[in-house]
Amino acid sequence: MNSRVVALEILKEGISNFFISRTSWEKTVRFKDEDRAFIRKIVYGTLRYYFELSKRVDTFLKNPKNTPPYIKNILIMGAYELIEMKTPSYAVVNEYTKISPPKFKGLVNAILRRISEVAEEIDLGTGLPQWLYDRLKSQLGEDLELFLKSIESHEISLRAVNKTRDKIIKDFALNGIGTYPMKFSPWGIKCSDGVDLNTFKQFENGDFTFQDESSQLVGIVVNPQKGERILDAFGGVGTKTTHLIQMEPESLIFYNDLSRSKTSIAMDNFKRLRKMPSKIMNLDILNDEIDEKFDKILVDAPCTALGTIGKHPDLLLRITESDIEENSEMQLRMIDKLWNNLSTGGTLIYSVCTVTKEETDGVIEKFLSSHSGRCVDPFDGIFDFDFNGFGVQLLKWMEGFYISKIIKEG
Ligand SMILES: C[S@@+](CC[C@H](N)C(=O)[O-])C[C@H]1O[C@@H](n2cnc3c(N)ncnc32)[C@H](O)[C@@H]1O
Repeated sequence: MNSRVVALEILKEGISNFFISRTSWEKTVRFKDEDRAFIRKIVYGTLRYYFELSKRVDTFLKNPKNTPPYIKNILIMGAYELIEMKTPSYAVVNEYTKISPPKFKGLVNAILRRISEVAEEIDLGTGLPQWLYDRLKSQLGEDLELFLKSIESHEISLRAVNKTRDKIIKDFALNGIGTYPMKFSPWGIKCSDGVDLNTFKQFENGDFTFQDESSQLVGIVVNPQKGERILDAFGGVGTKTTHLIQMEPESLIFYNDLSRSKTSIAMDNFKRLRKMPSKIMNLDILNDEIDEKFDKILVDAPCTALGTIGKHPDLLLRITESDIEENSEMQLRMIDKLWNNLSTGGTLIYSVCTVTKEETDGVIEKFLSSHSGRCVDPFDGIFDFDFNGFGVQLLKWMEGFYISKIIKEG
């Protein structure tokens, strides 16, 4: 099958469901490595600049509203190749005309030709919806540039689990894959995109797992100790849970997540990495009761996940302005609820993979105004990141990710 046809099918899923499933990516398995990388690039790139590309394509159409969505997507993806990837015009025009339904071949050919004539002059800007750009600009100021750069990076991040980082780097080198150690995480490895590492036997064996550097630093902040009872309240697919067990196998790590499907993936990860939590729960933190106390609670809360746009550009199609406020209210309720399960003197670690003020400092500031907790520098004596009294935004050093550490006072 034609790689662009598969890319269009995956793009369609991203646009209609605001999410690209694993099953969808599995359609690319039968392609050669370079074609698979090409499909990923045009799907991610098109989604990343979808709003802007769509606006530009509309200006070339007589009847944008009456153009069938499939044809519109062909034109948008073709435009992305012309403007951003600089694929030669004849290839773009020919290939997309070839895969168009007979009735629309003439239209696709004509429009892509016209776009190719001006492609050099088109600037897609940041690709963010205007309201999001404006909000981030006012909150991040000059750091907006760092944010935009971080979401353009397509490097793969790994955490060494059952082999040392050096050994894994050597193993990859033997397979012709260049990697390098992360700067801050002692377990972390970076590798360029386009390699399907999850088909590696080392992955199946549990030598490593996928995890961003910022997310690995959460383990350093939690710093599990022997015998400590630690609740990972939003365990998801178990990435941080397994890290905590790896760091201190004699700690008692409790995994929880509302989603059964996430828990099922987490179970696969627990088995593959040979890191089983002491207890696995599927409670709704906002509505169910947990009758236990913990020494530490990790609140890796659901959020707008703006720091992960690079990996999930489909987020840009789904996020709305009200999501930011709604998430921050929910995050506050989550910490508030879990605070009751924390022993006096215990530590609550709050983390979110986003950069909005509302979901980061805003949540912690509101929480502290009505609870006797004390914020401390999560990386005190370890790394010299900027602690602002509430938490640390890691954007200056890696991805957009926020960590706060609160001690419960008596
Ligand atoms: C940011 S993700 C957690 C990622 C995870 N810590 C990891 O490292 O893989 C947030 C998780 O919260 C879960 N969640 C959302 N609402 C919840 C609730 N009310 N109670 C429990 N879990 C919830 C979601 O299913 C999702 O897996």
